[in-house]
Amino acid sequence: MLPQTVKLVEVGPRDGLQNEPGTVPTATKVALIDRLGAAGLTVIEAGSFVSPKWVPQMADTAAVLAAIQRRPGVSYPVLVPNMKGLEAALAATGVEEIAVFGAASESFSQRNTNCSIDDGLARFADVTAAAREKGLRVRGYVSCVLGCPYEGRIAPEAVARVAGALVDMGCYEISLGDTIGAGTPLAAQAMVEAVAERVPRERLAAHFHDTYGQALANILAVMERGVAVVDCSVAGLGGCPYAKGASGNVATEDVLYMLDGMGIATGVDMSALLDASAMISQALGRSPASRVARAMGCA
Ligand code: HMG
Ligand code: MG
Repeated sequence: MLPQTVKLVEVGPRDGLQNEPGTVPTATKVALIDRLGAAGLTVIEAGSFVSPKWVPQMADTAAVLAAIQRRPGVSYPVLVPNMKGLEAALAATGVEEIAVFGAASESFSQRNTNCSIDDGLARFADVTAAAREKGLRVRGYVSCVLGCPYEGRIAPEAVARVAGALVDMGCYEISLGDTIGAGTPLAAQAMVEAVAERVPRERLAAHFHDTYGQALANILAVMERGVAVVDCSVAGLGGCPYAKGASGNVATEDVLYMLDGMGIATGVDMSALLDASAMISQALGRSPASRVARAMGCA
């Protein structure tokens, strides 16, 4: 049975812009986040407190958080990899939610966070405990749930182990990342079934990149298995700096079109979303990767 409502988690300002080769001005990021809020998105990932040597594009996250117009009922989470990142998040304006990010693949964990899966989990346990003590909500990511750029196939049990550890340490939701967009619908369902043995389905989110054009099909497939939270990126922005060839997340417009067409409520307004998509695409000097934005003449 499909869900009647789906929560869309907009990750474009973080997952999208972290991968841009050129610098995106702080004011552009702020304008994008404000437009996404105006479109009705209630969760907008605003940036990350990671090493600026590793991901220079996110170095202005504190300035972004200080300048956005906060809307009531909207959450603006940031990624945090370690205690140093948590301290920066706590010192920034208005952070109420963070996300820690692990992986189901050893090689990806090393490339993305310079540590093993288990060392990463130990760090996240400390970060999560300290963050919750300060009243923050913590979301957990698992990368490479349907394939790894370095190791290929990843066993669903490996995903379930990491997802289970993140929930046990206090993450309220687990976002399952198909980092390189390699998955197909039946594999996505099998992975969700394995994870559901450790984490209740209502606490799972689909975070699917669209590299092979499979993301919408995979999203529908996991919705059929009880997933009702979908991460997406306006204009299909993005990729991952540590996953060569990874294209953007599935475009928010494309997910919204599918859900609107199926009568599934999201609270997001297509025309305001297309405004945000057009604005950031123009700022980056290229057409949106979203098929819906192109079909609706916004490219
Ligand atoms: P490290 O080099 O092992 O860390 O990096 P370290 O503790 O040895 O510190 C080295 C230097 O970094 C020091 O500076 C630290 O101060 C600094 P130095 O003394 O050399 O000048 N440093 C920091 N600076 C600012 N903020 C911090 C911080 N921590 C250390 N928080 C580390 C380890 C985890 C920090 C590094 O590997 C890192 O920043 N990685 C982040 C990678 C990243 O952001 N990847 C993209 C996000 S994940 C993603 O996109 C996947 C996802 O979308 C899901 C999916 O699609 O699968 C979520
Ligand atoms: Mg991602």
